Amino acid sequence: MTFDRKIKIAPSILSADFANFGAECEAIEAQGADWVHVDVMDGHFVPNITFGPATCAAIRPHIKGVMDVHLMIAPVDPYIEAFAKAGADVITAHVEAGPHVHRTLQAIRAAGAKAGIALNPGTPASAIEPLLDMIDLVCVMTVNPGFGGQKFIHSQIKKVEQLRALIGERPIHIEIDGGVDPTTAPLVAKAGADVLVAGSAVFKGGSVTNPNVYGDNIKAIRAAAQGVWA
Ligand code: DX5
Ligand code: ZN
Repeated sequence: MTFDRKIKIAPSILSADFANFGAECEAIEAQGADWVHVDVMDGHFVPNITFGPATCAAIRPHIKGVMDVHLMIAPVDPYIEAFAKAGADVITAHVEAGPHVHRTLQAIRAAGAKAGIALNPGTPASAIEPLLDMIDLVCVMTVNPGFGGQKFIHSQIKKVEQLRALIGERPIHIEIDGGVDPTTAPLVAKAGADVLVAGSAVFKGGSVTNPNVYGDNIKAIRAAAQGVWA
């Protein structure tokens, strides 16, 4: 993985057909996705359950690019190695998931993955200040995690600006997760985000047999985000 701040669209397969993950991953990459965002939920840290490392390992051969694994689980440490072995390029844990986030980040890098830290909407930007040398990505939750298709929380834009200032020249991605669509994408891009996760806004109206819709949806989000600098 090389670092740049160009806008990257990361469709979340939380909105894909769960019976067809392999083909869905191939379809979104063929239609222009930069990263594939994989939402792991445990029914404990968040009120929903998705899947674990075995599913990540199964879909890995169907993804050519970056597999971006977002762990909404607590505890997180006992499972890091399994997700790294499953082929995750980026493993993101929540700062709220346990008392030892520094150790968690050390473990992610030791397992050979890029380390991400996610902040829930109620958590301030300053939470990552002591961790800046430990992270490759900060994920700003613009919804309360657990479900796709929720409404974007506008108060998080200020947090993105604060994080952008905190990060300075460090090679740390700012990822936005939740409620990203062509309306909200320019707001977060302007504030300094470079990785835009989008579930419902990418998958809506399309399918593996009608994948051009995914491409149109991805293009619309990217164009809206990039329009900021046009
Ligand atoms: C929320 C997940 C998100 C979610 C985004 O808990 O982490 O990745 O799938 O979905 P949309 O884009 O529909 O808000
Ligand atoms: Zn996510």
